[in-house]
Amino acid sequence: MIPESFIQELLARIDIVDVVERYVQLKKAGANYQACCPFHSEKSPSFTVSPAKQFYHCFGCGAHGSAIGFVMQYAGLGFIEAVEDLANHLGMPVPREVGAHAQQKSRQAPLTERMALAARFYKDQLKASPVAIDYLKGRGLTGEIAARYGLGYAPDDWQGLQRVFDDYSSPALAECGLVIDNEQGRRYDRFRDRIMFPILDQRANVIGFGGRVLGQGEPKYLNSPETPLFHKGEEVYGLPQARQAIHTEDRVIVVEGYMDVVALAQFGIGNAVATLGTATTSTHVRKLLRQASQVVFCFDGDNAGRKAAWRALEASLDVLADDKLVGFIFLPAEHDPDSFVRAEGMEAFRRLAAQPTTLTEFLLRELKSGADLSNAEGRARLVHEAKPYLIKLAAPLLRLQLTRAIAEAAALSSAEVESQCGLKSPARGRPAPPKNRLRPAPHALERTLLVTVLRRPERAARLPLELIAQDNAEGAALLAVADAIEHAALPAGNLGLLIEYFRGSPHEEVIALVSGQIEESAGEEGEQEAVFIDTIERLRAQNLKLQIEDLNAKARQGVLSPAERQSLADLLARKRA
Ligand code: UTP
Ligand code: MN
Repeated sequence: MIPESFIQELLARIDIVDVVERYVQLKKAGANYQACCPFHSEKSPSFTVSPAKQFYHCFGCGAHGSAIGFVMQYAGLGFIEAVEDLANHLGMPVPREVGAHAQQKSRQAPLTERMALAARFYKDQLKASPVAIDYLKGRGLTGEIAARYGLGYAPDDWQGLQRVFDDYSSPALAECGLVIDNEQGRRYDRFRDRIMFPILDQRANVIGFGGRVLGQGEPKYLNSPETPLFHKGEEVYGLPQARQAIHTEDRVIVVEGYMDVVALAQFGIGNAVATLGTATTSTHVRKLLRQASQVVFCFDGDNAGRKAAWRALEASLDVLADDKLVGFIFLPAEHDPDSFVRAEGMEAFRRLAAQPTTLTEFLLRELKSGADLSNAEGRARLVHEAKPYLIKLAAPLLRLQLTRAIAEAAALSSAEVESQCGLKSPARGRPAPPKNRLRPAPHALERTLLVTVLRRPERAARLPLELIAQDNAEGAALLAVADAIEHAALPAGNLGLLIEYFRGSPHEEVIALVSGQIEESAGEEGEQEAVFIDTIERLRAQNLKLQIEDLNAKARQGVLSPAERQSLADLLARKRA
């Protein structure tokens, strides 16, 4: 855990403009800065960065957040990694409760250095090996692409790494998987006489290698073992190199092989990454869906490729969202992406990639192909088989669509499929608990107040707290914001800081959502003030009306106490005033 006070100190010392500028070229425009949005593709700039609010916002795609949020979104990092990244730039040590995790981190630093050193060595060795260069040329790669992917060559030498590591016997070398100790206690290089593909993490540290034999031989690819740095089920190959293209296209293509990634890049398709000889995991998909709104799997056209696609589908179900798309490209059986792009060309690949089979299409097709829908048994079987997938699918609207499609195929109603699968049907589910206050436009007033207060936190002091209902997300967030502004000494106007203050709290989502509307609600400050005052008036009026309605209802039932009769009279008088 990183202490909250550190996050605040960090954000107070950071300027979001500097942070964004590390990745995106900004132009001054009035009080703000702007650029073409790095999160979706566009020709005219709708991405703005406000130094006053320490906040970024895109009018085109709605992306917004603090400096931490930017690094998370841009580099696809988790919260802690993003904080570490920003702190490193300022030379601020990140304080942590000392635990296993902290110890592990400090152990990793020397390993990362060693991996970098090894990668450099392999790269230099490639320059000195005409055979290896010929092999890569023979596979159609130019020096430029080889350099972009840092390709190298591990020499045919049992202790080649001794040339760069004076302490070749150090345990650290075994820990990062570069050497192997045999049973006789002799140590030798893991990778020998192989083309080396360095595997980078999201911050472009070398964390592992894949090594390919130059011709025939077993194994064809040798990979780094699991190490403190390298976790196959979480990492993908080629992400830092693909990042720019992924952002521009808003799509990432996932392939199976190192060579597929590199060959596609050679043909100008830069947004491909590969899983590392393992099945796709939910962690992979979650990570990639943070980078783009579409993840398209393109596996080999053979049977194994189809199996891999199905595994990828299963891994995607519980991380899919309604504003994302997971799709599949199926190549002709004899091809993998590398051979396909070579045989058919870039345009043919792009055409395929532009029309992926969507996850639900693939799912339906496979499920239907396993059942004979012409009889009741087959239709029952379809629903039976579909059930675990429907339950797992995390995107509620997509699940509704899929349910309907399954229902149609099974000659049932959606409600019947839902109840058979134990899914809650919105139409037939339990009735919503009665609201103690009936409102025409639910929570609209609280939401408006939240927007105006986030624009100008000093307004919080003027909120009629007693009138704000806790029973809706906007109201609860508004109360929490008011409380934080009063008690947490948040500097005025620093929206980025406010957002981070609520990260991980129950209000995170509402505040992030509403802060996205702030720039769009822009208008003269005077106008905003009028909106604020007017909204409070309406809140008061609404409250008055509800109280009167409650008392009137009691009066009709004849259960009004004398005290209530009095307050009804008072309320009515106030209303007329
Ligand atoms: P493939 O066997 O499909 O190889 O393995 P490829 O990518 O087409 O390689 P080329 O074109 O023959 O050079 C796909 C991926 O599976 C993993 C690697 O990650 C590889 O890129 N793999 C394969 C291994 O880890 N070990 C192996 O022995 C083979
Ligand atoms: Mn291949």
